[in-house]
Amino acid sequence: FFFSLLKRKKEAKKEKSSPTLVLHGNVPHEDYTSTKIPRRGEQAAAAAVTLPFLQLKFGRKVSGGLLSLGKSAVAISAGRRADSPHFCMVYNLLLKRKRIFSIIKYENLFEDVYAFRACHVSEHVRCRTGFRLQREENTMKTITVHASQTYPIWIGRGLLGQCGTYLKQQTKAQTAAVITDDHVDCYYGDIVTKSLEENGFRTIKFVFPHGEASKCSKTLNQIYDFLCENNITRTDCLVALGGGVVGDITGFAAATYLRGLDYLQIPTSLLAQVDSSVGGKTAIDLTGGKNLVGAFKQPVAVLCDLDTLHTLPKLFLADGMGEVIKYGMIRDEKLFTLLEQHTLETVSEVMDEIVPTCIDIKRDVVEHDEFDTGERMILNFGHTLGHAVESYYHYETYTHGSAVAAGMCMMTRATCTPELYVRLCDCVKAYDLPTEVDAPVAELVPLCGNDKKRASASLRFIVCETIGRAEIRSMPFTEFAAWMGGVDA
Ligand code: GLY
Repeated sequence: FFFSLLKRKKEAKKEKSSPTLVLHGNVPHEDYTSTKIPRRGEQAAAAAVTLPFLQLKFGRKVSGGLLSLGKSAVAISAGRRADSPHFCMVYNLLLKRKRIFSIIKYENLFEDVYAFRACHVSEHVRCRTGFRLQREENTMKTITVHASQTYPIWIGRGLLGQCGTYLKQQTKAQTAAVITDDHVDCYYGDIVTKSLEENGFRTIKFVFPHGEASKCSKTLNQIYDFLCENNITRTDCLVALGGGVVGDITGFAAATYLRGLDYLQIPTSLLAQVDSSVGGKTAIDLTGGKNLVGAFKQPVAVLCDLDTLHTLPKLFLADGMGEVIKYGMIRDEKLFTLLEQHTLETVSEVMDEIVPTCIDIKRDVVEHDEFDTGERMILNFGHTLGHAVESYYHYETYTHGSAVAAGMCMMTRATCTPELYVRLCDCVKAYDLPTEVDAPVAELVPLCGNDKKRASASLRFIVCETIGRAEIRSMPFTEFAAWMGGVDA
């Protein structure tokens, strides 16, 4: 008895000390398909991140499937013969001096193919190197929005490759028309269409140039023509694959083409995941301003694959963080405190917590005021001045999130205690976002008049005197101009 106790203790200690590698998903390795990817460079990293369960070929020597993502990744050779040994390579996926892959371990991982397969079916598998492999299952979160249409938001990792399975649950459509931009298409176009086709959808794809300039009537008309040429009927569906621009214009096409058809949102930017893909606001821009023509049209579902954030350039991550900080300010002090503990460099570590938190706040606000006549306006904290900043600089100098960050700081400086202002500024700076802009406030204020929240001669704006609590205020426009103008003095 004594010896068995000692043995158990020893095993428990070993168990504790062995490093754990988390496997995302549980796709049987027989389902892997062969995809050639470059050995190095950004494309290699993107492919590695986006093809978690596909067989990767690293040059001539080794082929393998990438099983785990994050700061390090495990690639396992698929082997030509069922009994061939399976190797493990741990790649450091951190982007350091442009060298993306550096092999830090390359060892025979499994005894045989059975052990290799075991990692797909059991919770914990210890492999030869002492690594404890833990399959990450059921980590996908579902948030259900109860608006004029009830729909799920799925949040997790490695979901893109299963989007067809998910979409099938939500629609009877036979054809899925994927609408995306050229950047996103390079990264995720194939994985999405493949999954849709595997699940019985006929797929067609429309790709337009990335950027805000495409969110216009010209692109919209091209989308309509494309849908018409491909005989898309009201019982088919659209798939918005991309950031805010793709989501907004696809949603508007879905709201209007044939008087409305289903659409699925697959947001691939942080801003789209935490904000624009949720809540059913769809729109295009006019020369006179952003989002001036639009409709409320809820999607049939939103699929948020957090792995897509790995391919997001830092500038776009910061852009999304502007909206994330906003959620902390308007509704959630705990979230704000978490953000204070991180920076743009480290925030990815807590993305699995941040994204669902923000989405849940948005869900709650949308459920209370789907059509933006009251409470939903709190989502526009920082936006009144933010929109003015974007417009002043002709939408070229500041991203939406950075303009919102500056707008939040400027509004807080005018309405709150210096302590709160400093706290917000410190947080904003940690995410490489601006706390102010060079444009004189006196020149920004008239541009606030274009804000959609201006009701007749009164301007409504949002103030957060306490972190986590937002208030809608209203002021005659002329008074607001004098009041904000005085801020600069
Ligand atoms: N992006 C603000 C809203 O959805 O109301």
